[in-house]
This record gives sequence, structure tokens and C-alpha cells, in this order.
Amino acid sequence: MAKNLLSISDLSKQDMLDLIEFSNNFIDDQGNFRKEDLFPDKIVANVFCEPSTRTKSSFAIAASNLGCSVIDFDINTSSIQKGESIYETVDALNLMGVDLCVLRHPESVIRELAESLPKMSFVNAGEGSISHPTQALLDMKTIIDHKNSLDNLNIVIIGDLDHSRVTSSFVEGIANFDIGSLTLCGHPEMCTNYQNPKTGNYESDMNKALQDADVVMTLRIQHERFENELNLDLETYKSSYQLSSEKLESAKGDVIVMHPGPVNYIEITEAVYDSENSVIRQQIANGVAVRMAVLSRFLGS
Ligand code: CP
Repeated sequence: MAKNLLSISDLSKQDMLDLIEFSNNFIDDQGNFRKEDLFPDKIVANVFCEPSTRTKSSFAIAASNLGCSVIDFDINTSSIQKGESIYETVDALNLMGVDLCVLRHPESVIRELAESLPKMSFVNAGEGSISHPTQALLDMKTIIDHKNSLDNLNIVIIGDLDHSRVTSSFVEGIANFDIGSLTLCGHPEMCTNYQNPKTGNYESDMNKALQDADVVMTLRIQHERFENELNLDLETYKSSYQLSSEKLESAKGDVIVMHPGPVNYIEITEAVYDSENSVIRQQIANGVAVRMAVLSRFLGS
């Protein structure tokens, strides 16, 4: 396996299944994360140039659980505020002996950084609207935890797909599996890149999209990524695209409801978030185990 995780396409189907299987070793029978002193001599830098709660904290906890030293890089108090570039910033960390850089950045810089700084490993923790490979892995693990495999499942993704790096990495990842169907659903103006998807079908009518679904993934509107202010009546949007208990009745009885977070309760009601079908809080916890597996593999290679 390569020493960087830049995109989900860096992984074969077997690599993905191996990482998910490996991640199960880091959760004990009580659901607690194991602390393993596997990499006491390794330094991981958590470089987040966009906001994050789940990804940043789970990488920090995962690295700490593995015995690594963790640099919690704060962009707001870094020399980026004095005009230093992301390249100079990461190179400085490299020269100080950081072994692996976990990077979230609004632009596509990670591949060039990885090529320029071959001594370090890089793990993509979110690349603008483009990709979020560890989220795809933890989403696949959560589905497998509940459905045993990805095979033959009817999967529906609903929301602001155009701005969703979660969607792009997940769709790319599950294209390797024999799923039943993939339906991409949302306001047509938020799904312009998915009208004729390579994998799956676009459906603007949420009630039709939800028919016989095994897995429903909901996504918030990413207001921060729209170039022009969004001219949208939220009540009209909610009547068409908010996942409510009534709408969920079209899906299978044992459907699981997912959301990568953060949740705005425009795209999903509180009742569905709190329902027995919701696995959203398990997705958050799975983030730690999956990132322990990812760090172990890429620190060890
Ligand atoms: N899912 C996800 O990336 O969440 P954060 O932005 O909180 O890291």
C-alpha cells in the first residue's frame, strides 16, 4: 500500500475491506477504543485549514490512542496569518520531524505537497468540495456494521450533492462493490453534477427516491460553499427535501439513516435524527476506529 491516503481511489476494494476489518480491532467488547502504544516514536500533525469538529478531534484521539505525539496545528495562531503559504507551513513541520500530516484544506493542494515532501506521509481529511476519503471509509464501516456487507443494498443520498466531498468519495468508494442501487436526490440546483451520474441515478422526487431504501444518507446545505447567496425558501425546501418520519415510511422498515455531520435540522428532522433507524452517532464514534486503522497503515508503510 502507498504511504499516502490522498483519495479513496488510492485504495482497492480489498484495501478498503482490510482497513474496515482492521478498525474493528480498535474497539473492545464494551465499545471503548483500545489504547495501543504502537507508534511511540511517531509525530502526527493535524493541519486543519477549514473548520472541523469530528474529523480533527477523531484524528487527534486516534493518534493519541496509538501512542503518537500529536501536533494540534491552529491555523489562527500560525504563521499562515503572517503570509506564510501552506507549502512553507507543511515543509516547516516536515523539517521538525513530523512523520504524517493530516490535512484539511479548501483547495486541492495535498497531492502537490505529497509529491514535494516525500519523507512525510499525508492523509486527506477533507479537500474542498472534492474528496473526504476517511469519511467514506467510516460510512462504509457503519453500513457493514448494520447490514453485514454493501452487497445488494439500495442506497440513497439526499441533499446538497454538488458541494459534498462526502458524496464524491463515498460514490467513488462504493462503485467497487455490488450494491443493489444508488439514487442521488436533491434540489436540481444543488445536484447539477449528478444529473447524469456515472454511478447510480438522479431522482428529484424524494418520495420516489426513498422507495425500498436500505440506507439513506442526508446532507446539509453547505451555505459556505455557494458563490452567490442562496435564494431559497427554507420551508419549501424542507417540504421537498427534509427527511421526516412520514417520508421515511417509503423506505424499508430496517432502513438506516446516516449523516456525516454537522446536522442543521433543515435536511433532517430531530425526530429522525433521534429515531431507532438513525446511526448518525455511531458514524461519529466509528471515525476514531477507522482513523486508528488508517494512521496505523500509513505510519507503518
Ligand atoms: N463529517 C465531517 O467531516 O465533520 P467535521 O467537519 O466536523 O470534521
